Amino acid sequence: MIYYANWKLNKNSSDVVEYFEKFNKFNCLDDICFFVSPPLLQTAKLHSKYKIGAQNVCYEDFGAFTGETSLSQALDFGVSSVLIGHSERRIKFFETDELLNDKLKLCSEKIECVLCIGENIEGKARKQDILEAQLTYDLDGVKFECYPNIIIAYEPVWAIGSGVTPTADEIERTIKFIKCFLKSKYEFEFKVLYGGSVDLNNIKEFKQIPSVDGFLIGGASLDAEKFYKLINA
Ligand code: PGA
Repeated sequence: MIYYANWKLNKNSSDVVEYFEKFNKFNCLDDICFFVSPPLLQTAKLHSKYKIGAQNVCYEDFGAFTGETSLSQALDFGVSSVLIGHSERRIKFFETDELLNDKLKLCSEKIECVLCIGENIEGKARKQDILEAQLTYDLDGVKFECYPNIIIAYEPVWAIGSGVTPTADEIERTIKFIKCFLKSKYEFEFKVLYGGSVDLNNIKEFKQIPSVDGFLIGGASLDAEKFYKLINA
């Protein structure tokens, strides 16, 4: 099972050291990656025995892009994965599908990419159309050889950080839909994660969902013991 932690804009370097002092003692055999913000990449890489990921990279690899982190710089730090199109990037930083498509084309040749998709609360009734459109635009022109590097994270925007989630049944139906759509369009079996308010109260049930390959976990990954409990629930 895949357990990817999204720390968002949390922690400083002493917190990171303390976290991994605890978390490294646990022996987790699952596929685990911590997505940290750019200033923490080096400390996290140095102290974690698990994979480290970047929460975002620029759609160009060098040049006049003040404030951005490039894919080459992230690779320099030894990151193993990059989040693309998290809903907070789409909404708060106005990242469009066109821009995300550029990022995917740049990154998927070189590194694992976790492409985040999901409907907002107003889009609930048109969920399938929204997911189809996001996948179609974001993956447009990405080379077939790069598909194995792409993991999809289904994160309903309304479930992120809200404590509200779809039912296990709804998650199963949506992820099956995503997988079928991708299989029919790209003739490739993509892995799909679920994300949005995963916590100790729902993880056991969600782990039983047949189509789910793993989870993208925000708030509940910030505490080392809690995250370990989730993984082992
Ligand atoms: P959450 O965040 O687990 O805190 O809801 C998930 C995410 O934003 O990836």
